[in-house]
Amino acid sequence: MSEQNNPTQHVEDARLAFAREFERFANLTANGSVLSLSEAEAEQRAIADLRTRHAGKKSAIAACKKLIGRVAPEERAAFGQLVQRRAAEISQAIDTAELKLKSIIEAARTTRDRIDVTIPGRRPRPGHLHPITLMRQRIEDIFVSLGYIVEDDREIETDFYNFDALNIPEGHPARDPQDTFYTTEGFALRSQTSTVQIHAMQRRGAPVRMIAPGRVFRRDTPDPTHNPMFYQVEGLCVDRGITMAHLKGTLAEFVHRLFGPETRTRFRPSYFPFTEPSAEVDYSCFNCGGKGCRICKQSGWIELGGSGMVHPNVLRAANVDPEEFTGFAFGLGIDRTCARIYQLDDIRLLFENDVRFLEQFR
Ligand code: DAH
Repeated sequence: MSEQNNPTQHVEDARLAFAREFERFANLTANGSVLSLSEAEAEQRAIADLRTRHAGKKSAIAACKKLIGRVAPEERAAFGQLVQRRAAEISQAIDTAELKLKSIIEAARTTRDRIDVTIPGRRPRPGHLHPITLMRQRIEDIFVSLGYIVEDDREIETDFYNFDALNIPEGHPARDPQDTFYTTEGFALRSQTSTVQIHAMQRRGAPVRMIAPGRVFRRDTPDPTHNPMFYQVEGLCVDRGITMAHLKGTLAEFVHRLFGPETRTRFRPSYFPFTEPSAEVDYSCFNCGGKGCRICKQSGWIELGGSGMVHPNVLRAANVDPEEFTGFAFGLGIDRTCARIYQLDDIRLLFENDVRFLEQFR
């Protein structure tokens, strides 16, 4: 029991108890950089706990300080100095380890949060419009500037709008090449944008000037020049005193603006049930100017579409008086024109949505 009563031994016990526990922190400070961030954070908590137990108010060394007053007066100064020295050593050791841990943690956090500003960024891939949309917009811009409105109408139609009202009665041979896809009884996907002529006149009456771009459908087998779904633009101009000269002038102006002022037009007599007279419209090749090349198949001309003077039966079907009003109409293929301009040898490319193809039209 004498040892317990020896105050110096108490100090030595306190020092040893601390040294035993502190050992691993002493090592850690020597080569502490191998610690991971979470390990270092755990050590930081452990050393705070160590400080409470070995340097706090209830620690063994704190108990030794209370003994100072109780040792013999002649030994008191020396003992007091010993206790203070040991207490300071413990605190200092802890301070040093804590500081070291703090810098390890800071370094680890910096490493974790570091960004390498020299790494190349991920380049965003911005989208762009489809070539058919670009073409449609160019056509719309031209006609809007000529005073036309743009009609956007339905793709599912009745026989009346797709055929009867366009002067194609049941049993008419013109229905055959326009065979389409039927949905529920009495409805079918429109096979031509000419349907919008009727809707527009019914809605707006006469006079009217409109174009109607949109999708049409036919029961065709896909090949390089056919697709069961394609795009047309319909044009309709109805007013008092409209003649074929207005039609020719309008389409001539259109190709001037689309392909350049040197472009010529040619009208060939044709037949459409909804126009009388009817004409196919050609324009001089934008590539060779009419001399003949691969694009115009050596003819010098490229087909634009169908046209003609609106048949009185069509005006009547839309409640427009053919005695008072006349009009012209035309229908152009958007994808066909697109394929010509971009020299596509297969129209199906426009519908396959292969980005390697589409990205060329930014
Ligand atoms: N609807 C016709 C077709 O799909 C194109 C057409 C020809 C439209 C003459 C017209 C027109 O408005 O007058 O083949």
